[in-house]
Formats: sequence, structure tokens, C-alpha cells
Amino acid sequence: MSSVTLDHVHKKFGNAKGVEDVHIHIESGEFFTFLGPSGCGKTTTLRMIAGFYYPTAGQIRFGSQEVTSVPPHKRNTGMVFQNYALFPHMTVFENIAFGLQVRSVNKAETKERVERIMKLVRLEGYGERRIDQLSGGQQQRVALARALVIEPQILLLDEPLSNLDAKLREETRFEIKRLQLELGITTIYVTHDQAEAMSMSDRIMVMQGGEVQQIGTPHEIYHRPVNRFVASFIGETNLWEGTVVGIDRDEVQVRISSGQVLSGFAKNASPRAKLAVGEQVTMSIRPESVQEQSEGAGTNIVTGKVVMSEFTGACVNYVTEVGQENLRSMSINLGRPIKQRGDAIGLHIPKESIYFAG
Ligand SMILES: Nc1ncnc2c1ncn2[C@@H]1O[C@H](COP(=O)(O)OP(=O)(O)O)[C@@H](O)[C@H]1O
Ligand SMILES: [Mg+2]
Repeated sequence: MSSVTLDHVHKKFGNAKGVEDVHIHIESGEFFTFLGPSGCGKTTTLRMIAGFYYPTAGQIRFGSQEVTSVPPHKRNTGMVFQNYALFPHMTVFENIAFGLQVRSVNKAETKERVERIMKLVRLEGYGERRIDQLSGGQQQRVALARALVIEPQILLLDEPLSNLDAKLREETRFEIKRLQLELGITTIYVTHDQAEAMSMSDRIMVMQGGEVQQIGTPHEIYHRPVNRFVASFIGETNLWEGTVVGIDRDEVQVRISSGQVLSGFAKNASPRAKLAVGEQVTMSIRPESVQEQSEGAGTNIVTGKVVMSEFTGACVNYVTEVGQENLRSMSINLGRPIKQRGDAIGLHIPKESIYFAG
């Protein structure tokens, strides 16, 4: 297994920006995810690690070995492409064995290694099937087996679940994670799906427009987003504007559009947030932290009218009009009566749940 370092890596396509100044160190054995919307530079960055693109500037290292301009077949990375890129008229066995044949591994060893890997990805008995006789989920596992059979130091996965339906996607997510833990292999995973990234990764790099926005654990990225983009891309959130009207030690008071004043903690702030009296701030408030409060007024209780209520069985979700803003809230269904559109509602926004995003 190997660590991966991207040292101020840039990639331009002609004059067009691909990615700009990606600077990361991925630990040996880490599950690291590139997350962002389509076109943000995820595949470009992954392809530079695989060697299919060379950077315009910067260095790539595996452990202490520089590989910036080493061709792909000399890098010992295994890659699963978004469309799998399997050979449709060849059998499962032949597809998986391909990388070993290219590396001149003898027949007996090839057979043994292919069979071992087929067992690992639960494809035992499928060796003689042709690719076009397999389901999408089985093809996905062939692609994974083909990448793993060469015993790569680094596994690269480009949106490997995007061709599967929702249920299979969730199952396969666990399967990939199980394999990664069993093999302890350094894994770089590309996705635009934040739930996938959050559930699988040790750390996530959030990208937008070819630029890195934030690198952190799922917990850090969720609870301490560095800007509006990260706050709204990762999970759902309420982004409220307000004016700082008071600061009392570690507590900050902010007036919102309804005229009410909310109180939050200064320590829950991105470095970009200007916490000074008179300044505008953006607050990120997660829906699951906002809870219905039936009796009385109090600190950080806002009142409004329900615009929409949604019952999903496990949860009760409201959108409530508070001043000129909407507040989304989400609570576990405890069997309480559900408010309907037009009903008045009181909602508690706990002080510690307000994050000053900028
Ligand atoms: N081979 C290429 N030639 C020109 N532009 C490219 C090429 N590959 C990617 N790009 C551009 O680089 C940017 C990042 O693309 P990409 O890495 O594929 O994004 P993602 O995988 O996040 O969807 C996009 O603006 C895309 O149009
Ligand atoms: Mg892509």
C-alpha cells in the first residue's frame, strides 16, 4: 500500500481550466473521496493519479517515489472506470485475467489469482459467462475484480456506482467498503453523491469549478463547512442571512428578517465569517437540529406558519415561513399530531446548532 501526494498539481486543456492547485496528502490505507458536481475536475484529478493525463504543473508522488510522468502501466494502480470499460465479447475470466496476461503472469498463477479474486467479489462460478450476459451489478464486480487482481498499491474508482439502481447502489457501497477494509488498500473514490461520500470515506475533498473547496473528515465537512457552497452541497441546510447586533464573550446575537434575534456561539464559525457588530453573516442551520417547540417563548424559539408538511413514516418534515425566510426542519416521528399548511408553529433552533458560514 502506498500514500499519494499531489503537490500543487494543475491541469489545463489548451487554455481551458481543468483543475487548479490541488494539494493533498492521502495516507496509506486511507479511503479518500473527491466529491463535487459534474465538471468540477474529479475525473481529471483521478486520471493524473492513474497516469492517463500528465499535470501541466506540480508533482505526484506514491510514497516517496515521484511518478508525475510515469506511464499508467508502470504505476501499479487499479482503476475502475465510470462505464466499466469491460470487453463485452470476452468471458468474465478473460476480462479479469487481462491485466495479468499483459504483465506476462503464467497460466497456473493467473488461474489461481483470478479465482481468488472472483471469490472475494462474490463472482464464483461466473468465469465462463460473457459480459453481455451479466446484470449491471455483476458487471460492476467484474470491473472491480479486474482492477484488484493485479494487486495494485492504489485503487482508483470513478463513480463506480452511477450505473446501478438505488437499492443496488446502497448494497454495493457496503461491499466496496468491506473489500477496502479487508485489503487495507489505499482507495481514491470519485462521486457527485454526497451520501455516498459521507458514508464511505475517511476524508473527503470537496471540489467546485476545478478548485478545492475543503478537505476534511465527513464530520468536519458536515459540521464546519468553510463556505456556502460546501454547506449547501453536503446534506440539506438552511442558509439564513442576518446582522450581528451584539457580542457577549463567546456568544453572538444576530437579527434575522423577522426582526427576532438569534444567539449562537462564536466558536462555531468559519474563518471567513466576520463576527463584528453591524456585519452581515450567513448562518447554516441543519434541518435535523430544528425541533418543534409547542409551549411558550424562549431563547432561539422562532414562530411562523407551516408552508409544507411531509410525513415519511420515520420522519416529519416541515417548511415554515419565518419572516421572509423559509426554515426546513426534520424530526423523528414520535406520534405527535402533524401540523398542516397554514398552522402556526414554534421551532427551537439550539444555540450550538448555528454555524456562521461566512
Ligand atoms: N480531455 C479534455 N479536453 C478538454 N477539456 C476537458 C477534458 N477533460 C476534462 N475537461 C474539462 O475539465 C473540467 C473538469 O472535467 P472533469 O474532470 O471530467 O469533471 P468531473 O469528473 O468532476 O465531472 C471540465 O470543465 C471539462 O470540460
Ligand atoms: Mg467525471
